[in-house]
Amino acid sequence: MTRRIRILDTTLRDGEQTPGVSLNLEEKTAIARQLELLGVDTIEAGFAITSKGDFEAVKAVAETVRNCTVTSLARAVEKDIDTAWEAVKGAKNPGIHTFIATSDIHMKFKLRMTEEEVLERTRTMVARAKAYTDYVEFSAEDASRSRREFLYKVYEAAIEAGAIMLNVPDTVGYTTPDEFGKLIKDIKANVKGIETVGISVHCHNDLGLAVANSLSAIQNGADLVECTINGLGERAGNAALEEIIMAIDTRKDFYDFSHGINTTLISKTSNLVSTLTGVNVQPNKAIVGKNAFAHESGIHQHGIMAEKTTYEIMTPESIGLKHNNMVLGKHSGRHAFEEKLKEMGYDLTKEDLNDAFIKFKDLADKKKQVLTEDIDAILLEKMFKVEEVFELDQFQISSGNKLISTATIKLKKGDEYITEAATGDGPIDAALNAIDRCMKFPMRLEDYKIKAVTGGKDAMGEVNVKVLKDGHRFVGHGVSTDIIEASIKAYLNAANRAYSVINSNGNGESDE
Ligand code: KIV
Ligand code: ZN
Repeated sequence: MTRRIRILDTTLRDGEQTPGVSLNLEEKTAIARQLELLGVDTIEAGFAITSKGDFEAVKAVAETVRNCTVTSLARAVEKDIDTAWEAVKGAKNPGIHTFIATSDIHMKFKLRMTEEEVLERTRTMVARAKAYTDYVEFSAEDASRSRREFLYKVYEAAIEAGAIMLNVPDTVGYTTPDEFGKLIKDIKANVKGIETVGISVHCHNDLGLAVANSLSAIQNGADLVECTINGLGERAGNAALEEIIMAIDTRKDFYDFSHGINTTLISKTSNLVSTLTGVNVQPNKAIVGKNAFAHESGIHQHGIMAEKTTYEIMTPESIGLKHNNMVLGKHSGRHAFEEKLKEMGYDLTKEDLNDAFIKFKDLADKKKQVLTEDIDAILLEKMFKVEEVFELDQFQISSGNKLISTATIKLKKGDEYITEAATGDGPIDAALNAIDRCMKFPMRLEDYKIKAVTGGKDAMGEVNVKVLKDGHRFVGHGVSTDIIEASIKAYLNAANRAYSVINSNGNGESDE
């Protein structure tokens, strides 16, 4: 009989542990909303104890999402569990995910705890979490390298203390599919009470086996897979949600499982996560890489034209890539625009719709074809609008291969206009230097990424920046057909976030 597999998405927790990734509250809630639409069963929203920013973000996700269980990670220590509960208690379906390492190597060198101490801690901390909520997940960190008999005992202790989901992490991505499948089978055969709880798996990709190991685990009885969008995560990342789901769907003949994911939202979710995290998807990445459905060789193209299934095992439409992606042009009216937005899944207020329409018209004047990706980019920029303390009024750039790049920027701050000029190592550097002079609000640019939203010479450029201000990190987004303007917008967006947070005495993502 077809078995329903559950999906826990940990993009906001393990995914955020990707080096260089730091998401703020609005970005986390935007991703969480998208994951809810995508149909994941559980969202691991963060690790509440790690910072005030993380706590607030987990809390915001818990209070926003209604159709998924929302969990926070917590070490098996009292203050982690108490804080996790404080963060998730506003959720419709809250959960606590607590963990402790069980391998000899982790217990000896990291925890400096004996097996008895780990067992006792498991009992008391799972029970502590259970006093708060019914949904308690317990992870035996580094399970795949743990001594079997001890691992069984720890899981039994967790079940007795009230865990309802036992997670089996391959923390260092060391296992292989056959070995991991057998581990799940052995756990099912040897852990007392296992039939009363769910089994979950959490695989890292250090040997490129995370998806294969996860699939092997579900074939051997695991009920839930922990994964991330685009395979983000610590080191080489986690199992990629899109790969697991599309493997199940494409090989229905082999994998007799169902799931709750709406696959047509995969592409959009992948783009959103890539934009907000600033981690580009490698072009040849399975399912969501930009080449995943491209056919380069003449022989392949010929085959595809004759019969798609010659070289296509799944359709681009199945992950939400539109064949005819042409949206609208400059003669399109408001009604057509509104209809297109509805078709794309947007439900905007009248005011937001007006604003988006103005931006669309503006873009349609500059660009021959406005594609769905362009509309997504316009709306994403809108979603991240903050109060504009510093507003761009005008800019002028002079640059060339034998010229020193010079920028003049005119900013509006309240009723005041400030104009400054600066030189720089290229036009973007000059523009950002001139902005710094206007704002007198020193920040350090830590990261700058630019990508084309679509193909073509007239494509919009999308810029994502990260800046450091007073030890806190702020992100900024900007899009425009002019990459200098996109860069200026992104930098000002980050500055405005920093300004509002620092002046309201809150915090951004701490760098300390
Ligand atoms: O990789 C790991 O072991 C983890 C656990 C905390 C589940 O992320
Ligand atoms: Zn992990």
